[in-house]
Amino acid sequence: MSQVLTMPTDESNEEPVGKPHSALAAARERGLKITLISLHGLIRARDPELGRDADTGGQVRYVLELAKELAAMAHVREVELLTRQIIDPSVGEDYAQLEEPISAKARIVRIPFGPKRYLKKESLWHYLEMFVDQVLPHFRRTGIPDIIHGHYADAGLAGAQLASLLHVPFVFTGHSLGRVKRRRLSLGRTDTDQLERRYRFATRIEAEEQALETAAMIVTSTHQEVEEQYAIYDHYVPSRMEVIPPGVDLDRFSPARPGDPLPPIADELARFLSDPSKPAILAMARPDERKNLAALVRTYGQSERLKELANLVLVLGNRDDLRELPGPQRSVIEEILLLIDRFDLYGKVAYPKRHRADDVPDLYRWAAATGGVFVNPALTEPFGLTLLEAGASGLPIVATRDGGPTDIIANCRNGLLIDPFDDDDLERALVRILTDPAERERMAEEGIRGTREHYSWRQHARRYLRDLEDILDHSPAPTLASRTPVRRLPDFDRLIITDLDNTLTGDDRSLEALIDLLRGHERVGFGIATGRRLDSALALIDRLHLPRPDLLATDVGTQLHYGERLTPDRSWRQEIGYAWKPAAIRELLDSLPGLRPQEDEHQSEFKISYELDRASGLTVATIRKRLREAGLRAKVVLSLETFLDVIPVRGGSDMTLRHLLWKWGLPPEHVLVAGDSGNDAGMLLGRTLGVVVANHGPELDKLRDRPRVYFAQASHAAGILEGIRHYRFLDEIAIPDDRLE
Ligand code: GLC
Ligand code: MG
Repeated sequence: MSQVLTMPTDESNEEPVGKPHSALAAARERGLKITLISLHGLIRARDPELGRDADTGGQVRYVLELAKELAAMAHVREVELLTRQIIDPSVGEDYAQLEEPISAKARIVRIPFGPKRYLKKESLWHYLEMFVDQVLPHFRRTGIPDIIHGHYADAGLAGAQLASLLHVPFVFTGHSLGRVKRRRLSLGRTDTDQLERRYRFATRIEAEEQALETAAMIVTSTHQEVEEQYAIYDHYVPSRMEVIPPGVDLDRFSPARPGDPLPPIADELARFLSDPSKPAILAMARPDERKNLAALVRTYGQSERLKELANLVLVLGNRDDLRELPGPQRSVIEEILLLIDRFDLYGKVAYPKRHRADDVPDLYRWAAATGGVFVNPALTEPFGLTLLEAGASGLPIVATRDGGPTDIIANCRNGLLIDPFDDDDLERALVRILTDPAERERMAEEGIRGTREHYSWRQHARRYLRDLEDILDHSPAPTLASRTPVRRLPDFDRLIITDLDNTLTGDDRSLEALIDLLRGHERVGFGIATGRRLDSALALIDRLHLPRPDLLATDVGTQLHYGERLTPDRSWRQEIGYAWKPAAIRELLDSLPGLRPQEDEHQSEFKISYELDRASGLTVATIRKRLREAGLRAKVVLSLETFLDVIPVRGGSDMTLRHLLWKWGLPPEHVLVAGDSGNDAGMLLGRTLGVVVANHGPELDKLRDRPRVYFAQASHAAGILEGIRHYRFLDEIAIPDDRLE
């Protein structure tokens, strides 16, 4: 085994260390490459199906517009929008295409990860490491971007990992935030466990915290979003928050021209309305309880004035058979139908079953031409893209007095704010606009002008790039981007990486059998990843008469060495200390009741280790919270419920493993990873072949439902041997019950 291993034994195999110029200088030479990531929902550039389901809405439009407009800027070489490849007859073939152009320099790249079928966003969490592992070869082929921008919590977490791993700056946009949604939904409810199961708030919020921690810039849409939403996060750094409102697609959303013929959707509406020429009160929203549409129908139904003045037009997504809609959507529509019947609104309210994306601009223009008004009475509205679309089309707006609408109306003065809990207020505002033609006309014009001035995507892209250049100017040129290694790990085509204590050790007979097996397979590399310090790991390796491993990751994934001569990995070494403030961390944690520092011989440069007294009630979550609140960035890793390590954000077994995959271009299916405790968890996830030995710590139980983590019946090295057999790792590798492909 070890005699054939020609892992880098001198540093000439390492890429040159980054030149000391900034990332901006490097990027300017070539033009910027920007990678946007948006993982959930159905994303396609041609005829996007906005509103088709809860995951395919404003965010999809946002990322498509952002990609297109950024790509149109002069210094930008390329924009790619990474999303999930979906192969599922129920959603159509477009989402299975690996690539789709958006514009000349922008494209969608669909990355397969997890099951092929369409999944709702709450089900994607388990597969994010798979995504990361799939993007690495993509970047190897196409080059590392200058910036990675994750959208929403899921891509926030995955993007943050990629950015940390590849040392490129990270930008985050939350779009909507877990803490805010949890608060809102928990009001007056006792079944919070059920909410938790359905929405996975804990996972989502932790992902958001990590994204916020990693991001050099957080792009938000409104000031309220910053002050009332992001501010409730542990890691809240106002100086990194930028309010850059999204734009409206001004090509699509433009005012009607005199003499425009009636659009196709008008025929559809005419089926409902006895006098379609009356002014229209138009509402367009997903059938979601929060959109408060029933209050609108009730207000209209109870107001003789409104019924006389106007028709009500409700565009509520698309449906075939109402009975097949998801429960919450169905009940919103059912309630509306009941109200229509109760107030006998036949001939006055239109609620078309279907509309195409192309009908949307027509609907605003048509409503404007009737002398109508757009209304959004949502209970909360952090942004409100439809309000901008309406405004840009010359349709005055009435909207909830909340973050988004408040900013929009302050900028454009094109409508009125209302209290969504007050039907009278809503009625008054609608009547006012419908009965004052001069004021209505002024609002229509202000909307057209104001949206162009404040809310164009061009404007957004300009501000975005200005902020981005500032970030790049303050970032070192990436060490990995310049060149990938000169050679690959040479003489083996597969690799076993195992933890030391209690995974490799603990059963001498099986250990010997494992070592014999490896000796007989020269093309199988052998690596060790351990929480021990390098000196103590080496001492144990020698004491057990183990061969020197081909790679040795020690100190809880903060040190990385290769081969007999323990050649350090230079790019790893160079980046591991990023954002690491050991003195401040010690000062904060040493005195925390429930934590006792481990002996000095366990401490090292990038690892601060404690023993956690479980009886104290102190939890990892609390420790993370303390660190974040203090503005300190570190990872907290708990093993065997007792050993608690605090390490740099770029450390850990997950980062080590992915660094190896990236650097040496190893196919993850050719890497078997074995472990028993918390500090091994990170490397067990993803596309590699995971093995958890039977004698594992309780913290690994949560990996049971992960794909590609095999729980062995046998303990210690016998468990590794069992894992090797399970995956037929030494023959033709097979992945039984692979839930991925
Ligand atoms: C090893 C280290 C110890 C660490 C533990 C968990 O036992 O010696 O410091 O806390 O692994 O990673
Ligand atoms: Mg162990």
